[in-house]
Amino acid sequence: MPTVSIIFFSGAGHTTKLAEAINQGAASVAGITTNLISLSGDDIVKGRYDNEEVLAKLDASDAIIFGSPTYMGGPAAQFKAFADASGGRWFAGAWKDKIAGGFTVSMSPSGDKSNTLQYMFTLAMQHGMVWIGQPEKPLQPNGINRLGSNGGVMAQAGQESPEVAPSGGDKLTGELFGKRVAEFTVKIKR
Ligand SMILES: Cc1cc2nc3c(=O)[nH]c(=O)nc-3n(C[C@H](O)[C@H](O)[C@H](O)COP(=O)(O)O)c2cc1C
Repeated sequence: MPTVSIIFFSGAGHTTKLAEAINQGAASVAGITTNLISLSGDDIVKGRYDNEEVLAKLDASDAIIFGSPTYMGGPAAQFKAFADASGGRWFAGAWKDKIAGGFTVSMSPSGDKSNTLQYMFTLAMQHGMVWIGQPEKPLQPNGINRLGSNGGVMAQAGQESPEVAPSGGDKLTGELFGKRVAEFTVKIKR
């Protein structure tokens, strides 16, 4: 069955909420299986990410959606440790032709989030993956794509609890993106 995996790190839980919305959108597509995988800092030993079970799940996926909060203008160190650990897969071409996408959350409306998405895009291109963008128009009344990002999904959350931030509009943006990636996955697998 076509499989979409969402692999993400979240420090305080805001990125988890966006990941869950993306997973919900992907899972709403008939015939799709999803894996929602949270990266754990406990899997990083002496700076190296080491969880073969997680990497094997990604090997078996048709689409991989990357997620991380924006920390200091880029992906969180935990996400980068995972990305570095995917180097063996890069060498083997294991993720070539898989579908890819990305999402990030930061406190400020900009917060240099585009840098995080750019990193995920570069990671996907190194692996020979096929990047899916986010085509929703900005400034819609329901808050969809209110931050105006097309390279991937952006959401905003700062000191508020993850129960209230990201906003409903940001989560809806994520849900639509998950659905889009899953629909592409079904099309390509057909
Ligand atoms: C170490 C650290 C660095 C951060 N750097 C940024 C930043 O560069 N830009 C920004 O807008 N927010 C920044 N933030 C705020 C987080 O991106 C924001 O609180 C986000 O919701 C955290 O997601 P999480 O709850 O999934 O960890 C930073 C937070 C931390 C802890």
